[in-house]
Amino acid sequence: MTTDTLLPPACASRAIDDKALDQLFRAARSHNGWLERPVPEALLRQAVDLAKMGPTSVNTLPMRVVFVKSAQAKARLKPALAPGNIEKTMTAPVTAIVGYDLGFPDLLPKLFPHVNARAWFAGNEALIVDTARRNGSLQGAYFILALRAIGLDVGPISGFDPAKVDAAFFADTEVRTHFLLNIGYGDMTKLFPRSPRLAFEEIARFEMISSFGAEKQNRTHSRRLERDDGHRNEDGINGNRMTNNSRTYVLTGSASGIGRSTKELLESQGRRVIGVDLRNADVIADLGTPAGRNRI
Ligand SMILES: Cc1cc2nc3c(=O)[nH]c(=O)nc-3n(C[C@H](O)[C@H](O)[C@H](O)COP(=O)(O)O)c2cc1C
Repeated sequence: MTTDTLLPPACASRAIDDKALDQLFRAARSHNGWLERPVPEALLRQAVDLAKMGPTSVNTLPMRVVFVKSAQAKARLKPALAPGNIEKTMTAPVTAIVGYDLGFPDLLPKLFPHVNARAWFAGNEALIVDTARRNGSLQGAYFILALRAIGLDVGPISGFDPAKVDAAFFADTEVRTHFLLNIGYGDMTKLFPRSPRLAFEEIARFEMISSFGAEKQNRTHSRRLERDDGHRNEDGINGNRMTNNSRTYVLTGSASGIGRSTKELLESQGRRVIGVDLRNADVIADLGTPAGRNRI
């Protein structure tokens, strides 16, 4: 399964190939049944060592993992599982309990040694929980992708009672269970049909676009235009927040290539776009020169 990859030449040399993208994303599935093929411990170690390299805020690394393999350990997990998740979890060669450690601040002198980051969290329980859950989730996602990258299949599970798993596996610790991850070689015959995904436009949009160079000038000009149009500027110059269609965009390099495509896309969404380019644009200006920049 492949789709076209639209990468500019400068990025193409760094991109992983289509086969790898399929394995990580496009062909990868959430598995419900497992082949009778054992998972070597060395692979599980490799996946953890890959996942730990993904970014976390303040390098907090709050994810903790317990690999459950033996029949005895699986039996301790079973009472916590929702009925629909019992068979797929009991038959998985390995089930990882993915947790987050609320005691992560104590490790910050080692993990973030150049400042006293532990002090930022001292006495702030809400911040500790928020940080541990956010970064623990991120690390859980890195872990899934790491497992897929080394050829394993996974089936994530949140249909279980985390308090029961905490009691069975993390008693007297500050680790809390996040989700379970069944790991093995998936039985393709037990897959559910693939569910649809959202379209790009339902997930994302481009707030402020500069197709080359003069971003600073664009931002300044865009702000002026918004004020002149009488529209409320919801996000200042940062352009981070979702806003409505009444915004006016100034798009440099609008006459050709990606600039032109972007202009067409924005206009097709009913947005007002002022194109800037050397020719065939609303504003003719060479932004490589002071005179051109003054023009806009
Ligand atoms: C955090 C998380 C929890 C999930 N919990 C369950 C679960 O309890 N039981 C289950 O059968 N599938 C569970 N899933 C699997 C999702 O339903 C599945 O990933 C989604 O439908 C997409 O399927 P696909 O990856 O095969 O396209 C979970 C997935 C995630 C990421």
